[in-house]
Amino acid sequence: MKILLVGSGGREHALAWKLSQSRHCSRLFCAPGNPGISQATAVLANTPEDLADFARLNRIDLTMIGPEALLCEGIVDHFCDLGLRIVGPDRRAAQLEGSKSFAKDFMRRHNLPTAKAEVFDEEKPALKYLRQQSMPIVVKADGLAAGKGVIVAENLAQAEQAVRDCFAGSFGEAGYRVLIEECLVGEEVSILALCDGNSILPLASSQDHKRAWDGDQGPNTGGMGAYSPAPIVDQALEQTIDRQILQPFLRGVQQDLLYFRGVIYAGLMITAAGPKLLEFNVRFGDPETQAILPRLDSDLLEALCATADGRLHEVKLSWKPEPAVCVVMASKGYPGKFERGFEISGIEAAQAKGALVFQAGTREQDGKLYTAGGRVLGVTALGNTLPEAVKNTYAALEEISWQGASYRKDIAHRALK
Ligand code: AMP
Ligand code: GLY
Repeated sequence: MKILLVGSGGREHALAWKLSQSRHCSRLFCAPGNPGISQATAVLANTPEDLADFARLNRIDLTMIGPEALLCEGIVDHFCDLGLRIVGPDRRAAQLEGSKSFAKDFMRRHNLPTAKAEVFDEEKPALKYLRQQSMPIVVKADGLAAGKGVIVAENLAQAEQAVRDCFAGSFGEAGYRVLIEECLVGEEVSILALCDGNSILPLASSQDHKRAWDGDQGPNTGGMGAYSPAPIVDQALEQTIDRQILQPFLRGVQQDLLYFRGVIYAGLMITAAGPKLLEFNVRFGDPETQAILPRLDSDLLEALCATADGRLHEVKLSWKPEPAVCVVMASKGYPGKFERGFEISGIEAAQAKGALVFQAGTREQDGKLYTAGGRVLGVTALGNTLPEAVKNTYAALEEISWQGASYRKDIAHRALK
């Protein structure tokens, strides 16, 4: 089978690594990919039309989309119209990620537990509502904002500022509709599942670290590290999540006639009153995928084909019991301003210690590797126990360096407690 994978981050590197191990994979293309994805031939197409042209002309058997933007643009609709096989939700279903008010409405109508929220299209009533609420409170830009559109406000002044920023255009179009949401307290967990509209198949649980600095301090980022499984998700909680979140999600997809043959990512807060949904994403999480896939023993390509074909019920997945830990190495200053162009060394030494090194913001020139983005790479290792996986990951990571390399020293600290 010929596979087209779309995206350029650590998530796509992990997907390429896993997909290329399938006995069904004869050739892998990646649009555009990154220097680490040496398993794949790089492709320059980046619009739904050009990617579909490429898939048609090269007789691609399956296309897999990494990032959300193309899904929200309707790439799946486009491929389906042309009879091309693709994994993902169509444009309407992708609004579960692309519009937080759409997602909230879906959650309410289908009785999925979530935080109480109000939606506003104008600043004045939003500010008035805020003044009647207790703090802390969460202000969310409705649309896609690259992970930056959520502000957890400690006090009224911060919350008001967040609302004003949204309506002043800080998040572009995404912020002209605002959700004001009850602040939930608890442990966060990411539950990813394959869904083909007929059935839903959860992947191993995981937990990511969104804040930039140690101790979960500092600004939100795309994710500074992740581990799998999330120890808080024991068998009982797994069943609760299935009963209260995943099955109602599937029924909702069916009742609303949404076309969903892809990955659903439920961002959950495990509160004292049980799991509650913070958000949906309609794709693999990053860096979660870098911690989850190294634990998967089954053939991912078979599972994705079954998802695209609507025969997911045929698939069973088996997982290594060993926990995996992924630590993201970033450019100094990320998620704020940072410089790029520093030479990276030590990847082979890290690999020699048994770690997987997934590249993201890197660039290759004359056989040398340079930093080229905020999140530069992710280092993943397994261990017999979580503390051992943490130790193995950091031991490998310390082999890698460049000027200004920064990373969190405490990934998985909550689970270690
Ligand atoms: P989201 O993009 O919706 O996942 O939000 C990003 C982060 O904001 C989440 O991972 C949480 O840490 C936090 N967050 C979002 N919604 C809430 C909420 N209702 N209560 C507390 N924290 C939240
Ligand atoms: N790790 C969070 C995300 O992929 O959105």
